[in-house]
Amino acid sequence: MNYEIYFPRGVAKGSAFCNRENERKRLISNIRSRQHTLIMSPRRYGKTSLVKYAVKEMGILYGEADLFIAVDAERIEQQILTAVKKIISEVSTSVEQVLETIRQYFKKTSTRWTVGTQGINIALIPENNQDPAITIMEALNALEDLLSKKNMQAVFFIDEVQEIGEIAEGKGIEGALRHVAQQTRFLSFIFSGSNRRLLANMFFDKARPLYKLCDRIILERIHESAYIKHMNKLARKRWGCDIDNDALETIFSLTERHPFYINGLCLHLWDANYERPPTIKDIHMYWTQMVKEERQEIMRELSALSMGQRKILIAISEGHIRELTGKAFLKQVNMTSSSVVEAVSVLEKRDYIEKLENDTYHIIDPLVATALRLYYGDLF
Ligand SMILES: Nc1ncnc2c1ncn2[C@@H]1O[C@H](COP(=O)(O)OP(=O)(O)O)[C@@H](O)[C@H]1O
Ligand SMILES: [Mg+2]
Repeated sequence: MNYEIYFPRGVAKGSAFCNRENERKRLISNIRSRQHTLIMSPRRYGKTSLVKYAVKEMGILYGEADLFIAVDAERIEQQILTAVKKIISEVSTSVEQVLETIRQYFKKTSTRWTVGTQGINIALIPENNQDPAITIMEALNALEDLLSKKNMQAVFFIDEVQEIGEIAEGKGIEGALRHVAQQTRFLSFIFSGSNRRLLANMFFDKARPLYKLCDRIILERIHESAYIKHMNKLARKRWGCDIDNDALETIFSLTERHPFYINGLCLHLWDANYERPPTIKDIHMYWTQMVKEERQEIMRELSALSMGQRKILIAISEGHIRELTGKAFLKQVNMTSSSVVEAVSVLEKRDYIEKLENDTYHIIDPLVATALRLYYGDLF
């Protein structure tokens, strides 16, 4: 058997989904009360999984626009229109009736739209060369209008939303989203993103359109006690018994409970030919194997950093996690205070490191942290 179903690389669903009780409750209650939500966390902490799990649990109409690879406004428009069409096609009445409602709505708008079907799909085509921000606004308003007539609620999920802020026409699109989101009664928006700085610029700056629009959920790593329950349940299915506490501790300390790497490591362990749960030694062996497998990729990424940035990253991996502009540290890395500040800021911006509440720095990716210790150990 392949245990990817328990420990997927992609979205976690069904028996692969662990906990998130509080976040799920909050998200569901936001959706019910039409409060829009912004979910923030570094990459691969479980934002997409959380949203999909919650909407499935609610059994609510749902569409998603994934802006992960959106490079321009047209692409964003296309992703949003796809999500709009998906929700329209799931509104439960005859397609012709639904399309007629939308046609009526578009009669009132400034843009001419072609509304119809293409095979089994809905066609919703704006006139050529229309401003993407206007297209997005009109399509979402038409959807809200349709939902209000049917008295149905829907969730509109815009994933990796920070990309909007990164493109030239972004501000227009942000404005369009605000315009719609401010007055919807049937559509609830969920935005998610991984780059804290870019999101902060978009959502917490008074001058930007999306300011104060959302309830903010910050997704942390999953709590240890929840993971113990979750993993022992899956261990009993695999070996008929629990995993030793020491072994679980080893999994947690190597992966630092980063959900993506917990799944990566556990997949190896569950897939291995053991007749018994893994021991501490097995766990270290597979973790080192994962580091070796990713070595080239990690090195390639690191080589894109400047010498100073790399030095700081290595120093953090070796436990220099506070007072990075202190005299002793500057001497050790042989850098000036301003160049350390600059390097730290770039590393934070690119999501290599994060500053924790106790003012210490932390490398976000545990595999990168291990690789640094393994290949650059003893540098300081
Ligand atoms: N609640 C969860 N329980 C178990 N694994 C999870 C959970 N949420 C996410 N994961 C795992 O973490 C990784 C990243 O999940 P994903 O939802 O794609 O994160 P994001 O959208 O934040 O990048 C995947 O391997 C996924 O299976
Ligand atoms: Mg995601």
